[in-house]
Amino acid sequence: METMKSARKNDTEEVGSDLSEQIKAITKDSHVRAENTQLMLNYQKGQISLREYKLLLCSLYEIYKALEEELDRNASHPGVAPIYFPQELARLESLERDLEYFFGPDWKKKIIVPAATQRYEQRLRQIGRENPTLLVAHAYTRYLGDLSGGQVLGKITQKSIGLSGKEGLSFFLFPGVTSPNRFKQLYRGRMNSIDLTEEERKDVLEEAVSAFEFNIQVFDDLQKMLSFTTETATQPKSHRLNLPAAMIPSSPIMQFTMGMCVALATVGMGIYAL
Ligand code: HEM
Repeated sequence: METMKSARKNDTEEVGSDLSEQIKAITKDSHVRAENTQLMLNYQKGQISLREYKLLLCSLYEIYKALEEELDRNASHPGVAPIYFPQELARLESLERDLEYFFGPDWKKKIIVPAATQRYEQRLRQIGRENPTLLVAHAYTRYLGDLSGGQVLGKITQKSIGLSGKEGLSFFLFPGVTSPNRFKQLYRGRMNSIDLTEEERKDVLEEAVSAFEFNIQVFDDLQKMLSFTTETATQPKSHRLNLPAAMIPSSPIMQFTMGMCVALATVGMGIYAL
């Protein structure tokens, strides 16, 4: 079997009783798989186009909107309060700025996300309502990732799509964090201070594995959307109907437009087949 590469250090130290150590250990394999999704591999090779980056931003926007609204709503919950750092970490406003930069003032109408993003979002809303303690698993997966490998990805994005300044790249910038490494240490300490029963700890660890899985599915769906749209540009008419089930626009207008396109394409195919 082909071995997958990982940029994460290969920790051989024993896993202690701290949540931060356990969560890192349990998500180790998932991290390798996330890094090795086609989208992330292309990214690391600097093969990210503006179109791909814009599509990724749309999904990140929906994910952080759900995550941060749920964190805000549960800010004083004992499982959330210790890891609640909106000043330092919140990404929603930076994503809005980036989206406006790339899509213009009516960016909201142009958001398009695959089904996997909607499932991720729904899970975040559900745990925000029913079991806010699990939010730490999702906050960890996204924010500590953004402060780690995400920093390298920011530089790659800038180079690959040829942006000269910081505009369009706010997502990767954390003006409230002077040293990502020191902040990650602080964050780990806060995670470890959360009082969890054995049952809750087990659930948080499981949720962290799911959080990675949600991200992997989003990347895979985005990759499908991208290959679909590239293929349609080059393939003969008879191959143009491989619309992945994943391609569901988030706004009703886009859903309607997409529905019309599929309907027209289907009718078109029918005629073509005659
Ligand atoms: C191209 C893709 C990626 C690269 C190159 C990358 C690289 C890295 C690196 C170098 C670290 C620091 C490792 C260490 O200090 O031992 C790290 C940590 C981390 N990454 Fe990634 N990563 C990638 C994708 C992801 C994705 C997609 C996620 C989740 C959605 C993620 C989540 C994390 C988390 C949560 C940590 C913190 C681990 C901890 O200290 O507990 N990474 N990553």
